[in-house]
Amino acid sequence: KNIYLSLRSGLKMPALGYGTWQANDEELEKGMEAALEAGYRHIDTAHVYENEGVIGKVIKRWLSSGKLDSMKAMEAQVDAGLAKAIGLSNFNIKQIQRILDNARIPPCNLQVELHAFFQQNELYNFCKKNNIVMTAYSPLGSPGIGKFMSQFGQQVEAPNILGDPVVKRIAKKHNKKESQVLLRHIIQKGIAAIPKSTNPERLKQNIDIFDFELDNEDMKALNALDKGPAARIVDFYAFKG
Ligand code: A2P
Repeated sequence: KNIYLSLRSGLKMPALGYGTWQANDEELEKGMEAALEAGYRHIDTAHVYENEGVIGKVIKRWLSSGKLDSMKAMEAQVDAGLAKAIGLSNFNIKQIQRILDNARIPPCNLQVELHAFFQQNELYNFCKKNNIVMTAYSPLGSPGIGKFMSQFGQQVEAPNILGDPVVKRIAKKHNKKESQVLLRHIIQKGIAAIPKSTNPERLKQNIDIFDFELDNEDMKALNALDKGPAARIVDFYAFKG
């Protein structure tokens, strides 16, 4: 428990932190352990205290011991029958691996940005290997993000995936909409997709993708649209900006 102060970067800082000046290394190592155990998540340090090494050592040990609070809390929810499964969102391979190494109940789902221009192949293969189902957010390339972000004074340009010539060609071939091709591509890879729409026509279209199948050639052509991390759209730090 704590009170959190909002920083201009968009992050939040616990109001009550742990002061470390003037404690010697031995005292501080014990003190840090006790502080983390007690719930401190804001740790004071400075080069002149000459204690950054001890602090780093205790934090590293703490993290690798698997005491990541939220995961333990989620596992307790499953134990109590209040949650059926645990999912993650916006975790990278290193972070998921750390969870897998320490979790008693492994996560079964990972929700991340994923679309034809940013297919997350490395993460996809990692999830497959570790039996984690993925869920794609912004599966259409978030065409409405520019308008949405402008409310926060941020300029974000959505990639025009719906207008891509390859997507258009495949849509024509199957007599389907471009959006349906993009969603079907994701689903056929064994990934879930959550296209947002408040328009009744479009939300119906988006679920009407189970009466056709993309062939190997279509899948290959769509796979080749991947531009890697440079095509990532959602930057949460900019959003919090
Ligand atoms: P709207 O709610 O007016 O339909 P994503 O899920 O990739 O973030 O995309 C959501 C955006 O795409 C929203 O702006 C949504 O607007 C729009 N959208 C949803 N479905 C379609 C569709 N079938 N064709 C074109 N745009 C769509």
